[in-house]
Amino acid sequence: MSSVSDHASNNLLSKIAISDQHGENSPYFDGWKAYDSNPYHPLKNPDGVIQMGLAENQLSFDSIEEWIKKNPTASICTTEGVGQFRDIAIFQDYHGLPQFRNAIASFMGRVRGNRVSFDPDRVVMAGGATGANELIIFCLANPGDAFLVPSPYYPAFNRDLSWRTGVRLIPVHCHSSNDFKITKEALEEAYENAIQSGINVKGVILANPSNPLGSNLEMQDLKDLVSFINQRQIHLVCDEIYSATVFNKPDFVSVAEIIQDMEFVNRDLIHIVYSLSKDMGLPGFRVGIVYSYNDVVVSCGRKMSSFGLVSSQTQLFLAKLLSDHAFIDKFLAESAKRLGARHQIFTDGLEEIGIKCLKSNAGLFFWMDLRSLLKDSSFEAEMVLWRVIINDVKLNVSPGSSFHCSEPGWFRVCFANMDEETVQVALKRIRKFVKGGKEIEIPKKAKRWQKSLRLSFSSRLLDEGTLMSPHSPIPHSPLVRART
Ligand SMILES: Cc1ncc(COP(=O)(O)O)c(C=O)c1O
Repeated sequence: MSSVSDHASNNLLSKIAISDQHGENSPYFDGWKAYDSNPYHPLKNPDGVIQMGLAENQLSFDSIEEWIKKNPTASICTTEGVGQFRDIAIFQDYHGLPQFRNAIASFMGRVRGNRVSFDPDRVVMAGGATGANELIIFCLANPGDAFLVPSPYYPAFNRDLSWRTGVRLIPVHCHSSNDFKITKEALEEAYENAIQSGINVKGVILANPSNPLGSNLEMQDLKDLVSFINQRQIHLVCDEIYSATVFNKPDFVSVAEIIQDMEFVNRDLIHIVYSLSKDMGLPGFRVGIVYSYNDVVVSCGRKMSSFGLVSSQTQLFLAKLLSDHAFIDKFLAESAKRLGARHQIFTDGLEEIGIKCLKSNAGLFFWMDLRSLLKDSSFEAEMVLWRVIINDVKLNVSPGSSFHCSEPGWFRVCFANMDEETVQVALKRIRKFVKGGKEIEIPKKAKRWQKSLRLSFSSRLLDEGTLMSPHSPIPHSPLVRART
């Protein structure tokens, strides 16, 4: 088979096809490869890799399954629903079914405690938040323009926002010293540096709640951000895909609420990206939304959504599901409760063996601090540790470098894509690992273990060679499935 470089040399393919700007050649996606080639199964493959690099919300499927059983008309594939088949099977244009747009707008309001309402006529469909993020960038920027992105940030932003649009991403580095909060100073510095280098900065884009931090912006921080973009008349794109995963205080505040209360904000600059992949746990449905306050963006975005329409069958189902307000309110409350409980089991389990995590209150993951386990404070050392975790401990967690974190030693751990038993197996593996191969009892006083944790790691880390897996190194794969 011909290689990418063969094609590059004879100009057979487009620049996009031969570039590696898809961002998938990072350890984040390599971890996927390792999992795919040796997936854990409690009976069939108990020594396989446990997938903890997947931000999926599988904790509340049972509620949706129950709803489906009680609502057979929500599908065209049932005796009760087949009467709608012809209407749904025919061509549907890019406006989407009216009942679907109404249901989405009302759902977005409910997720925000009905403190703000959304206009169904501003709901633009896309193929997941992945498609929605690319679509909004296509509407706002030209190739070579830039967006500022507070880091650490979601690794696939490089693929979704840059690869095909040609738009650059400029990280705004946030630090552990203030729990990775976005500061005005950091934003200003990144903005000024870019302008001085002749780069046209079109806006700021961020996920709120954050992936990977699992925390949401406080109201004042969001107001400051809106003031920042408003003063410079640049755009603000808030990816609010995790808005209903908030399980502890502070409550989620949407940029929609902020601009409702703030005077003198140019609303043409404000855009929300949303999806049902996380809050409802339906990433396979590929439902993404751009909600823009800018009329031209809505109009252009709607035409662009022809490239990523949500199937009418899915729209029909969701229109019915999301319009069942009693069910949705109960679902959202229960889902957040389950996420909070799972988060606690995991982080408590880690704390008992001396592993700390950034305080978090949202998302499907937490940000684990393994800085004290690095041989030195470098990204090379982070990679060494990550390879041990994936090859020897057999857990696919994602290293901070793939999130463009400026400090080595942080790892993102997903906790909502597995069952309770797998959580216990994962914790058991970590416990065994930190004790250098021996199974350990959970100590009553956690603090005691912090010292031994460091010792058992550092003695192993002395010789990097022993840490590398004796098995094959993980190959880079541009073909690896692009996931969350
Ligand atoms: C911040 C963020 N945006 C977008 C996406 C993509 O979501 P979707 O499955 O809806 O395309 C993800 C998925 O992990 C995400 O974390």
